[in-house]
Amino acid sequence: MILLDGKKTSEDIKSEIAEAVAQRKTDGKKIPHLAAIIVGNDGASMTYVSSKVKACARVGFNSTLIDLPEDTTEEQLLDEIAILNKDQDIDGFIVQLPLPKHIDEDKILLAVDPNKDVDGFHPVNVGKMCLELPTFLPATPFGIMELLERYNIETSGKNVVVLGRSNIVGRPMSILLSQKRKCGNATVTLAHSRTKNLKEITSQADIIVAAIGIPEFLTGDMVKDGVSVIDVGITRLPDASKKNGFRLAGDVHFESVKEKSSFITPVPGGVGPMTIAMLLKNTLLACSRKD
Ligand code: GUN
Repeated sequence: MILLDGKKTSEDIKSEIAEAVAQRKTDGKKIPHLAAIIVGNDGASMTYVSSKVKACARVGFNSTLIDLPEDTTEEQLLDEIAILNKDQDIDGFIVQLPLPKHIDEDKILLAVDPNKDVDGFHPVNVGKMCLELPTFLPATPFGIMELLERYNIETSGKNVVVLGRSNIVGRPMSILLSQKRKCGNATVTLAHSRTKNLKEITSQADIIVAAIGIPEFLTGDMVKDGVSVIDVGITRLPDASKKNGFRLAGDVHFESVKEKSSFITPVPGGVGPMTIAMLLKNTLLACSRKD
């Protein structure tokens, strides 16, 4: 079994980005600037956003964190987005999801200038992705493609099962893996909560991407020998033996699935750090597009 080390791979990518930034400095070009908006004080979201901002410093980007209270209105959030859309120094920005219930997420994502949409969530960019046109790929699926590529995991002609059909991970993942691209050309099954005979389907998979948000859902009895497993899930489970009172669990029951795997991502240290690295990559692209 080979552990897919997302932490190490993301460090490699960040070093490559840092070099590109240093070169831009030498050439007198603009330094990339990423902004992130967070609404409310969900603990997990605050951790993710602060990791994104920290990662900017690591590669030499400028960053701006806009921290809005839970009771921010939809209109106020739209105003903040309008300001970032106009700000010439901001190359890209993200609105951390999920948003509080009283805010219409679709309306917010539509308001982001597609040229600054480094999350790749705007319908224009989703459409471009589907048509294999150059665009910002959503960071988590993009990170998984990069991990597969850097570990030389063959996808062409393979049976891939994606568990979960979210707009952020499962759906775009299934599209990318089926396309004529590096680490594409797979035969993809997109399974979800209404899927019948799931175990029959997962047992035939050469590669499984688990992104359903149910901790330790995929167990050893559901996979075949030699499977490659990508675990996107990250849930805080209460654990009194831990100093902070919780432990992080993926969507994969690691101990049983690892026994049968040829490749598997750990949680944490697998997909999570890759997501951040690819967000930086998109931001560098957004900035260099304007050269
Ligand atoms: N929430 C969970 N994943 C993501 C992501 O990739 N981007 C944003 N903006 N919010 C998220």
